[in-house]
Amino acid sequence: MPPARTPASPGAPRAAADAPWPGAAAPGGTAPVLCGLGSWLPPRRVGNDELSRELDTSDEWIRSRTGIGHRHVADAATATSDLAVEAGRRALKSAGTERVDAVVLATTTPDRPCPATAPLVAAQLGLGTVPAFDVGAVCTGFLYALAAGSGLIALGTARRVLVIGADKYSGILDPRDRSTRVIFGDGAGAVVLRAGDPAEPGALGPPLLGSDGTGADLVAIRSGGSREPLREAADGAADPYFRMDGRTVFRRAVERMADTSLAAAERAGWAAGDIDRLVAHQANLRILHAVADRMRLPRDRCAVHLDQVGNTAAASIPLALAHAVAGGRLAAGHRTVLTAFGGGLTWGACALHWPELTPV
Ligand code: UT7
Repeated sequence: MPPARTPASPGAPRAAADAPWPGAAAPGGTAPVLCGLGSWLPPRRVGNDELSRELDTSDEWIRSRTGIGHRHVADAATATSDLAVEAGRRALKSAGTERVDAVVLATTTPDRPCPATAPLVAAQLGLGTVPAFDVGAVCTGFLYALAAGSGLIALGTARRVLVIGADKYSGILDPRDRSTRVIFGDGAGAVVLRAGDPAEPGALGPPLLGSDGTGADLVAIRSGGSREPLREAADGAADPYFRMDGRTVFRRAVERMADTSLAAAERAGWAAGDIDRLVAHQANLRILHAVADRMRLPRDRCAVHLDQVGNTAAASIPLALAHAVAGGRLAAGHRTVLTAFGGGLTWGACALHWPELTPV
């Protein structure tokens, strides 16, 4: 396995041969460049022991099977848009701008089924009448939203896009279901993309995305959609809660995240060992390790944040990025791969040289 390369010094010019995306985008500033990062967690922190008092579970089981120690839980008055606005405001500050041309929000827990939550978030951020829409790809949502935001830049619709991942899973979990209650937490993270040059640090490689709808039942809320409207479900038969076949999802998550990450690295011209940081969706520590093992990547190159926040679904990657930068584990020049897997089934990966920025 080739040794990891030394990260470039912040702001150092790159040789053409080291350009992240040779030929990936036409010159003229249409490449999406990550230039701001913000995050927000609701203040209430719930430890494993607190859950063990309500459910038939234990700190030992949760830590050993998932790696999770705590998660943050929003209060009843807080909606996903509130989390998204907090993270979005911080990402704008991190990018040093008050204006963007579009807002893309990844979420599975919109404030309401209709309309989308992104326009409300844009309005609350004072962004005027910019285009704003939601993206639904469950735990892969942030990568799908990055792709959508990148497309807006590539097509010239926007020069700057706010991409947010926000979820309040505490509102869709069955309070009696120990298999999901212990895993998920609430939170939001956001980035700003701006139009730039494909050779700049922060320029995103093409997000590689996939889906397999034959696995639609593995992660699902059964009732409340057009297939089974709540009002038509037989008395007592409706199930409005989020359900997951964890064991099956585990296996597929490892395969898809590892293989797509390797493909994204290859598109960047990197071998697996060249990856300095793998920032994967924070579903389970055992999954992170298995992904690294399958990629033949040292496990310590994986960003780990789930011990403190659990699985925050669409918010997971930007929250893990902010945590890694704040802790000095992710620095300018690092060859970074983002990857996720979630309901749909959906998955994706994207590579970039980490830029110089200060998360807020
Ligand atoms: O974010 C989207 C993608 N999601 C994922 O990638 C999640 C992937 N899956 C996972 O992380 C794991 O499958 C879980 C953490 C969800 C479950 O871990 P597992 O090792 O796969 O456990 P299991 O579902 O196979 O269950 C093993 C046992 C069962 O008992 P029996 O049938 O062996 O008697 C469960 O009932 O553990 C039991 N169990 C629990 N025990 C104590 C399930 N949840 C709990 C719990 N506390 N919270």
